[in-house]
Amino acid sequence: MRIAVITTDGGAGKTAIAFAIAKELGLYLLSNDDSVIEAVYPDMARITKELHIIDDVVYDFGGFISAGVIDIIKVCDIVIVPCINDLNSKMKAIKTIDELKKYNDNFLVIATRTEDKRDLREVKEDLQKKFADIKVLPLRKTKMLKIGLEYGMSPFEVVQESKQLAYAARNFLPEYKEILKAVLGDEMYVELLKEKGVGDA
Ligand SMILES: Nc1ncnc2c1ncn2[C@@H]1O[C@H](COP(=O)(O)OP(=O)(O)OP(=O)(O)O)[C@@H](O)[C@H]1O
Ligand SMILES: [Mg+2]
Repeated sequence: MRIAVITTDGGAGKTAIAFAIAKELGLYLLSNDDSVIEAVYPDMARITKELHIIDDVVYDFGGFISAGVIDIIKVCDIVIVPCINDLNSKMKAIKTIDELKKYNDNFLVIATRTEDKRDLREVKEDLQKKFADIKVLPLRKTKMLKIGLEYGMSPFEVVQESKQLAYAARNFLPEYKEILKAVLGDEMYVELLKEKGVGDA
């Protein structure tokens, strides 16, 4: 499976989301943008300006959309576009999707760092005004992604570390699971939960 995480908006959460999913699913992680991924995900993560098409991979695409990026987008199973509820982030998410929709038709917008229902509603409204049936899922403001990236752990691994972390993640986790389900499809999602020893609640 190949997953792309992309938006031209800087700081929207591409690297945090790409790492979480790659580590969770045991996929390679390739990025054309500097970050800590090689240090925290040794042997599996690689930063390189020359990205290649491989299998079992998450791509974390920073910067502008080059011809090389488009070639990879064409062969991805899903394109994840993180978007914060601010005008700049939404404008860039829309531009990114507009530019890429010729090459892929399976987009998932993650309304990220949401603080209330309004954040999700506004991202949904603004994106769906432009792309009527695009899927938008929320991912609340959380420390889980930052903690995961710092310790090189996926969200499921973080919550299994301690009762305190599990408690801190109690509202984040259902949203994160919905994202995994949307990425994997129902069957593979159920397999993943079994494999990770995570309940479906
Ligand atoms: N849902 C979230 N809740 C809270 N903080 C978040 C969330 N998602 C990402 N962050 C934090 O926001 C910051 C920016 O995220 P990240 O580096 O992943 O963005 P990016 O899109 O990769 O940025 P860049 O374009 O600079 O590569 C990080 O500190 C990250 O931990
Ligand atoms: Mg990044």
